[in-house]
Amino acid sequence: MIDLSRREVLLGGLGTAAAFAGGFGAAARANSADHVLTVSRLDHEIMPGKPTVGMMSFSPDGPPPVLRLKQGREATIDVVNMLDEATVVHWHGLRIANAMDGVPYLTQNPIEPGETFRYRFTPPDAGTFWYHPHCNTLEQISRGLTGALIVEEETDPGFDADLPLNIRDFRLGGDGQFIEFFKPRNAARGGTIGTVSTVNWQENPVHDLPSGGLVRLRLVVSDVTRVGSFGLEGADGRLIAIDSNPVPELMPPGDVILSPGQRVDYAVLMPEDEGRQVQVVLRRPNGDRVLARLRSSGHSLGRRIKDLKPLAANPVAQPDLQNAEVLDFVFGWSPEGNAPQASICGSLGYTFWSINRIAWQGDVPGPLEPLAIMKQGKTYVLRLRNETPNDHPIHLHGVTFQLLSSNKRSVAPLFTDTALLLSEETMEVALVADNPGDWAVHCHVIEHQKTGLTGFVRIEA
Ligand code: C2O
Ligand code: CU
Ligand code: CU
Repeated sequence: MIDLSRREVLLGGLGTAAAFAGGFGAAARANSADHVLTVSRLDHEIMPGKPTVGMMSFSPDGPPPVLRLKQGREATIDVVNMLDEATVVHWHGLRIANAMDGVPYLTQNPIEPGETFRYRFTPPDAGTFWYHPHCNTLEQISRGLTGALIVEEETDPGFDADLPLNIRDFRLGGDGQFIEFFKPRNAARGGTIGTVSTVNWQENPVHDLPSGGLVRLRLVVSDVTRVGSFGLEGADGRLIAIDSNPVPELMPPGDVILSPGQRVDYAVLMPEDEGRQVQVVLRRPNGDRVLARLRSSGHSLGRRIKDLKPLAANPVAQPDLQNAEVLDFVFGWSPEGNAPQASICGSLGYTFWSINRIAWQGDVPGPLEPLAIMKQGKTYVLRLRNETPNDHPIHLHGVTFQLLSSNKRSVAPLFTDTALLLSEETMEVALVADNPGDWAVHCHVIEHQKTGLTGFVRIEA
């Protein structure tokens, strides 16, 4: 374990930390982590010829790496903070020990500049997840800190290729430089939309994939704001998983609405002929926007949709609805006159939103009051009521929940960690409280999260 005491770093400055992070001795290497994420500032070209100054990544020299872990196998990840501000990293959707969940003060202290924090956990579920900071979250994510996290199945599902697409916008001006990350009037409504759409930090990239091959395409919507309808054009395929959980029946790859934090996995059958293109598109009222293209390359592998094997379900406990207790959560405006507290994890300076009439005061040391207390092992039905005219993708850490019903639409009984609540929608979801700890619950429109729409629930052992 790299042990940089804070004092050493402050005395030595960032140079010392950099030297440390770059060149461990043999002794340190013997104890090295499986993965190292070096949280760094960098200049990077998103718009051709106009490098964006002051991006942030989990790598010093390019986009965040795709983290690949194995289901049921312990992983260690060193997060080396080379920023000049605190950070902390959360593993979105992973049901792991609370101390590894990466929420400032609730589960750990922020990682100070120059410090390294070692995360160690065993992912119980396979699928498509992602990782991102939970400190100064709007700015750090806006500058680039979102990465795809893949947990590979214990048994290989046998795809010919596997392609994660990290889908997000950046707010850049015509000169390629960041413009303001949000506008207060938008934060009090639907959120502030980006100006440049990217996939894996590229505008409309082309990926070569085997002709006639079965490809696992993993869409990760890591944007701070955009709720979108996504689709595939030019290939047959199947929708195989949503939010890391295999769907009970393979579905044709129709359009799917994804909100910030959500993921979908498609099995795509690439065209047989070389050089054909498949498009991943964002549906828009004024015409589709192509986000990425997949190009068939090489001799056809001649695969068929019927070659697809269903993915094994994740070991998520089935809710016991007969004996469930109902808990109410109301997402609404914040009561007047609520100023957020200053925090080393940043504040947007406004409070607009609340959960159960309580606006989150910011990421500050406790003691903090949970919105609800659950008993380990019991089933709960959460009644999620959106009393606002805006959409809110509600995310709960640490557990997986099942969609039960909505007052606005029919919902499939999917297992997820993020449920999109439409305007004035009430949804019921159920979960088995099987992971003890204090778990954050918040809207994943980060401007909402950072202006009050955050809280936590406690699962007591
Ligand atoms: Cu994706 Cu609390 O986070
Ligand atoms: Cu999360
Ligand atoms: Cu929201």
